[in-house]
Amino acid sequence: MTQTITVIRGDGIGPEIMDATLHVLDALKTGLSYEEADAGLVALEKHGDLLPAQTLESIKKNKIALKSPLTTPVGEGFSSINVALRRHFDLYANVRPAISFPNTKSRFADGVDLITVRENTEGAYLSEGQEVSADGETAVSLTRVTRKGSERIVRYAFDLARATGRKKVTLVHKANIIKSTSGLFLKVGREVAAQYPDIECNEMIVDNTCMQLVMRPEQFDIIVTTNLFGDILSDLCAGLVGGLGLAPGANIGTEAAIFEAVHGSAPDIAGQGKANPCALLLAAAQLLDHVGQPENATRLRKAIVATLEAKDSITPDLGGTGNTMGFAKAIASRV
Ligand code: NAI
Ligand code: MG
Repeated sequence: MTQTITVIRGDGIGPEIMDATLHVLDALKTGLSYEEADAGLVALEKHGDLLPAQTLESIKKNKIALKSPLTTPVGEGFSSINVALRRHFDLYANVRPAISFPNTKSRFADGVDLITVRENTEGAYLSEGQEVSADGETAVSLTRVTRKGSERIVRYAFDLARATGRKKVTLVHKANIIKSTSGLFLKVGREVAAQYPDIECNEMIVDNTCMQLVMRPEQFDIIVTTNLFGDILSDLCAGLVGGLGLAPGANIGTEAAIFEAVHGSAPDIAGQGKANPCALLLAAAQLLDHVGQPENATRLRKAIVATLEAKDSITPDLGGTGNTMGFAKAIASRV
């Protein structure tokens, strides 16, 4: 049976990088078929809704989506569509690989090969519990960490280590100061780690982790942490390997998984063929791993590396003069 995935072309540079990505996927002969669904500004214009019910239905049915960036209109009372998708499908694991590629503007030419696994549903990012006192002098916000939430994210990290042949998981926390919430995360993390004797586990306080990532990133393999720390650390890691054009991410739950580039819709370069398609392509590689096509995922990653190495048709953000589809064709010719 052919597997169908939901494809969301999105806003700004979204359609350009999606065309490029699907071109490469076709060259890989993945056998996947695509069901297009709208979200973002384009959906607002067509259906009067940023996140139409038929789009949610499509993702629910197919369980897998490849998604281009979406523009959330600012200051018009709309809340983030990405956050809405995460909540709707309980996409509890945000999985962001950071790998050194050749000829990028990265801090480290080689040696970075890590995955940040961020808890995506609780911690400091709750919709409730945000209060400012009537006099505007004091603000309080709620952080909630649960055993269930901590257990499933740490378990996800260890299972990912086993599935990908990675050897070490680092539990990142601040339990020395934030004894309640970060303390519970660490306690549960240790319990889960004990069930994976084949995977090395260490613990690191978040501020030290920032320094260690910049000084000696090669010591990390998989990092697992709570929502706020994971948000910050995963951007730090994206910066280590050369920034937005090369940073993919997956949002994974038990009922659905959505694969996307970390960057936004880049309205400043939309429609000009300047967008680097690699972040969405690397998200597609994560998708291929997820649907049980690890050989195709590896072929895709190797083709990206070879194309970057040859500086063949690379886009302006990488210092080249190529365009989005030309870059994709250069990658497709190497898969
Ligand atoms: P952005 O990531 O769209 O752009 C930041 C800078 O990076 C811009 O100069 C842009 O040209 C450049 N850039 C981004 N992706 C690139 C690529 N693939 N190739 C070459 N250059 C690239 O962030 P910004 O400007 O803060 O947000 C723009 C819109 O995107 C907003 O409406 C925001 O809400 C939305 N957004 C959506 C996300 C999603 O759907 N996952 C994530 C982040 C932002
Ligand atoms: Mg972030």
